Amino acid sequence: MAEATELLRSEGLTVRYGGIEALRGIDIYVNSGETVVVVGANGAGKSSLMKAVIGMVPVAGGSLVFEGQNITSTSTAKRAKMGIRISPEGRRVFANLTIEANMLAGGYTMSTKERAASMEWLFDTFPMLADRRNAKAGTLSGGQQQMVAIARALTARPKLLLLDEPFLGLSPVAIAETSNAIRVVQEQGMAVLISEQMARPALKLASRGYVLRSGSLRRSGAVAEIRELALSEDYL
Ligand SMILES: Nc1ncnc2c1ncn2[C@@H]1O[C@H](COP(=O)(O)OP(=O)(O)OP(=O)(O)O)[C@@H](O)[C@H]1O
Ligand SMILES: [Mg+2]
Repeated sequence: MAEATELLRSEGLTVRYGGIEALRGIDIYVNSGETVVVVGANGAGKSSLMKAVIGMVPVAGGSLVFEGQNITSTSTAKRAKMGIRISPEGRRVFANLTIEANMLAGGYTMSTKERAASMEWLFDTFPMLADRRNAKAGTLSGGQQQMVAIARALTARPKLLLLDEPFLGLSPVAIAETSNAIRVVQEQGMAVLISEQMARPALKLASRGYVLRSGSLRRSGAVAEIRELALSEDYL
């Protein structure tokens, strides 16, 4: 087997909001093509970690390296061009735009031709998107909106897909459908970093993970090694 290449690494990552330290010295890494999960309860710092990786919150300490380049002070737009995309917490689809327009918005960095090819692939792979391409995203179910948010992030064919609480508020059926969509992404060889409070379905998708509590990592390792603590965080 080829040796794993490191895609993302954080070292000593610290995020503060005024006097609140949301993340304290976080060390994580994601290899190419790998799925990594960060499990944590409400307020653990999951979104702060995701936002720090895409550059939506300033880093108060530590560093972020993507494909060997220090991106700690790189703009969000530049990071998006480098191949880091997110489906944010709460999905945040453009409710008044169609599914197709939401997907087009995700491909703003691409040429028209590349973008059309990418959307063609997404429509073929996820038939719901094709069937409802002209429906306004605001009229869709939570699970369908999650699919649109993931598709929007995928249009640009990122190297690293971030999913901030993809299962939040979804029915068991929609969680299963979203999980299947994430498996398709994995088969494409993309790396995925998932943050979740719902440890059980998230752990099924990952090979490795971290347990985050009150801004610090409590455990890291293979899914088998973190499972017990991760599941207990769910009930805090
Ligand atoms: N913009 C902000 N201003 C001040 N404090 C914030 C801000 N955003 C987050 N916090 C605080 O930082 C800590 C971590 O919040 P964060 O949103 O990263 O956690 P989370 O794990 O994503 O939680 P949730 O499960 O509710 O989404 C919390 O104490 C939160 O109140
Ligand atoms: Mg959050």
